[in-house]
Amino acid sequence: MTALVTGGSRGIGHAIVEELARFGAVVHTCSRNQTELNERLQEWESKGLTVTGSVCDLISRADREKLMETVSSAFHGKLNILVNNAGIAIELEPTQYTAGDFSTVMGTNFEWGYHLCQLAHPLLKASGNGSIVFISSVAGVIALPCLSVYAASKGAMNQVTKNLACEWAKDSIRTNAAAPSFTRTSMTNLATVKL
Ligand SMILES: NC(=O)c1ccc[n+]([C@@H]2O[C@H](COP(=O)([O-])OP(=O)(O)OC[C@H]3O[C@@H](n4cnc5c(N)ncnc54)[C@H](OP(=O)(O)O)[C@@H]3O)[C@@H](O)[C@H]2O)c1
Repeated sequence: MTALVTGGSRGIGHAIVEELARFGAVVHTCSRNQTELNERLQEWESKGLTVTGSVCDLISRADREKLMETVSSAFHGKLNILVNNAGIAIELEPTQYTAGDFSTVMGTNFEWGYHLCQLAHPLLKASGNGSIVFISSVAGVIALPCLSVYAASKGAMNQVTKNLACEWAKDSIRTNAAAPSFTRTSMTNLATVKL
């Protein structure tokens, strides 16, 4: 199995990379911080896990295209598993969100994931056994304080999960979302919200 897991240098994505690699998958991951990514890649290599990585800012359309070209070349045009994990939370009252905050949260948590699914579609289809997993949040299902835009990004993700599951089943691609609650990571160390 081949897998692309976004945001594997820390937190939930890091755990997913390790779990998939321990099951025998060949995994590619990405994040923005080259130094931290290199440290993780060395750790995985020392554990005997097959993981590669590249720097990518998922906000950038050009970076997403480059990432998928890298994955396609490394995995010979076939991808079994795409985990859309990377995300950010900005915790504010609804009246405090700026236009910039809105674009950053929607762009990081929703828009890039949708675009990556579009880019990955031919690779997932070529594998004959594709699987997309969105890492959503309980915040996309219930109303939590000071997370309205984050919640909207995850709610959109939940809906798109259903659409792709229906539309791409014919291509043997399954689409699911996992919605964690509070998980202690660098994201929740920074935020004060209690999920
Ligand atoms: N922690 C929770 O309580 C919780 C609960 C429910 C859902 N979730 C969801 O779980 C997912 C992972 O969260 P986490 O808590 O593990 O977060 P985290 O510890 O902050 O890790 C986020 C990962 O994503 C990468 N990343 C962030 N922005 C990126 C960008 N623009 N381009 C490329 N990589 C980027 C980060 O690396 P760089 O910063 O170096 O780029 C890092 O590897 C998110 O989608 C989050 O919404 C988390």
